[in-house]
Amino acid sequence: ARSPAGLANRACACGFVSLTRAVRGFADYTGCFAMLIQTFDFKIISDGRGSLIALEGDSVNVPFAIQRMYYVFGVEAGTKRGAHAHKQLRQLAVCVSGACRMTLDNGLGETAEVMLDSPNKGLLIERMMWHEMSDFSPDCVLAVLADDHYNESDYYRNYEDFLRAAQAAG
Ligand code: TYD
Repeated sequence: ARSPAGLANRACACGFVSLTRAVRGFADYTGCFAMLIQTFDFKIISDGRGSLIALEGDSVNVPFAIQRMYYVFGVEAGTKRGAHAHKQLRQLAVCVSGACRMTLDNGLGETAEVMLDSPNKGLLIERMMWHEMSDFSPDCVLAVLADDHYNESDYYRNYEDFLRAAQAAG
């Protein structure tokens, strides 16, 4: 498999060749050629007083300019959230407390699941990626950074509409 310069190949859990690189020393980025799963292992700054993680946009360790942050919490066991895709919006999700499962679907027959279970593990949710969250732990706080303001017209909330658009584009 081809690998862009500066990226090291390694086996990926999803069966594709993955890419790992340090992003300005703040995060290790792991992607795969399917580009469904793109995770970031953020650097933890620890001392005797505890731990700290800094997220910074403009590719310091988050690959876009951050325009918005929101967080989801207090989700009852068994609840599913998400179930939509964005036309343009790019997002990065981190469980800063607890855990939840993220299921991704690119509308072209490829799906993947990732457990977000650590405050230093970020998942990039690209545009045109149907995503659902499930298996929320009671203490889950899911933080999401986004590259634009909230805009309902950027959503595909109907899966058939999303599939048609993804297949027309892909
Ligand atoms: P939604 O994106 O559907 O949440 P989830 O993906 O977690 O299921 O948003 C839920 C509601 O919150 C919906 O009415 C839109 C509103 N909302 C905002 O007003 N601003 C925001 O930034 C977000 C993400 C949602």
